[in-house]
Amino acid sequence: MDVFDKLVKDGGPIGQHMDRAHGYFAFPKLEGELGPRMNFRGKEMIVWSLNNYLGLVNHPTVRKIDTEAAAMYGMGNPMGARMMSGNSDKHDALEKVISQFVNREDTMLLNFGYQGIMSCIDALVNRRDVIVYDAEAHACIVDGTRLHMGHRYAFKHNDIADCEKQLQRAKELAAKNGGGILVITEGVFGMDGEQGILKEIVALKRKFEFRLLIDDAHGFGYMGPTGAGADEAQGCQDGVDLYFSTFVKSMGSIGAFISGPKNVLKYLRYNTRSQIFAKSLPLMIVEGMLTRMEMVKTMPELREKLWHNVRRLQNGLKERGFDIGSTNSPVTPIFMKGDVPEATQMVMDLRENYHIFCSIVVYPVIPKGDIIYRLIPTASHSDEDIDLTLKAFEETKKKLDVGDYKAEDIPDMAEKTFK
Ligand SMILES: Cc1ncc(COP(=O)(O)O)c(C=O)c1O
Repeated sequence: MDVFDKLVKDGGPIGQHMDRAHGYFAFPKLEGELGPRMNFRGKEMIVWSLNNYLGLVNHPTVRKIDTEAAAMYGMGNPMGARMMSGNSDKHDALEKVISQFVNREDTMLLNFGYQGIMSCIDALVNRRDVIVYDAEAHACIVDGTRLHMGHRYAFKHNDIADCEKQLQRAKELAAKNGGGILVITEGVFGMDGEQGILKEIVALKRKFEFRLLIDDAHGFGYMGPTGAGADEAQGCQDGVDLYFSTFVKSMGSIGAFISGPKNVLKYLRYNTRSQIFAKSLPLMIVEGMLTRMEMVKTMPELREKLWHNVRRLQNGLKERGFDIGSTNSPVTPIFMKGDVPEATQMVMDLRENYHIFCSIVVYPVIPKGDIIYRLIPTASHSDEDIDLTLKAFEETKKKLDVGDYKAEDIPDMAEKTFK
C-alpha cells in the first residue's frame, strides 16, 4: 500500500473542508501594513486575528531598527549553530536583558518557539522522569512530551484537583523508577484566554517534589506590573523554575527563549538539540529584539492602551449578553452554538458586510455544535474599531439565533487557483 493513499483520501481532521475553505476560512491572505486595519480580498477589514498585543509589529521605532539591522547584517549573519560558529556578543546581551526582565538567572535564545520548547523538554527529562501537563497545552508542549521516553500524565485543563491526582500517580512512578517530575502548563492559554493556574500549582510544591516549566507565549511583554509575564501577574515567579516564551506575539518578531537557573541553562545550552544542530537566530532579529525589549521596559503606555482596549471590548461583549467564558487576559473568545455551515455563513457575513475579520474555531477542534470566535485586542486598535465590532457581533448573533445562517454545507470560497 502506498503511504500517500491515506493522505489524499480526506485531507485529515482539519483539512477535510480544504477544497471549499482554502484561502478564505483557512490560509486567508491579509494584505497591507500589519495592524488593526488590513485588506482581505480587496476589502478593508478590522482585524482581530493578530497576537500583536502591544502593537509593536508596525511601530515606527520597530520598523526603523528592523530595517537598519537588516541593512547592517543581512539575513545570514551569523552563520552556523551558536556552538560552532554562530555566536555573538549581541546574542549574549539579549539573553542578559531578558534574564533581568523576567527575573531569572540566565536565558537561552531559541530559533523558534515550537521546536525550541519541544527540544528543551526533550533535554530536561530522561526515561526515569515523569511529565505532568495541562491537557489543553499547546501542540508544541504535547509534541515535546511525545519525545519523552518515560511516562506522561495529562491533567484536566486548569483543574487543580486533577493536577494533584496526576502528581500523586507521578510521584509513585518517579519514586519507583528513581526519577523526578516535570510539570508543564501555560501562562495564558491562547484559545480560551484563561491564565494557567500557576499559583495553585506552585503551592503543590509543598506536597510534591517537582519542577515547573511554563509556556508564556501569550503573556510575555504585557502581563503583570512590569509586563514580565503571567507568573509576575500571579506573584509566583519564584515557584516557576523555567519560563519560556516566544518573540512572535507581543514582540512582533520571530524566535523564542527559555529562562531559569544558571546551572540548568548551562546544561540546556549544550544539550538542546534544536539549537545545537541548527543555525542560530540571525543578528538582525537579535538587534531588533534588543530595541523591542527597551521599548517594553520604558513604554508602559503600550500596556495601558492594551488593557483599555481589552476592558472596552470584553465589557462591551458582556453587556450585550455574549458568553466570553472565563478569560482573564486579552484573548477574547466568544462562545456560540451552531453547526459548521452556520459558523462559516456568519463569518462570511462578518467579513463581507461588516468588514470584521476574526478567527473561528469549530468541530473537530472543539465539540460538535460549538463555535468559538476568537478576538485579540491589541494596543493599536481604536475605540471606533471596538465599537464597530461590538455592533457587528450584536447584529450577526441575532441572525444566528433566528436561523438566518442555516445552510446545507460550507460555501465554496476557495481560491480558484487552489485546485
Ligand atoms: C502557546 C504557544 N507556544 C508556542 C508557540 C510556538 O512559537 P513559535 O511561533 O515561536 O514557534 C505558539 C505559537 O506561536 C504558542 O501559541
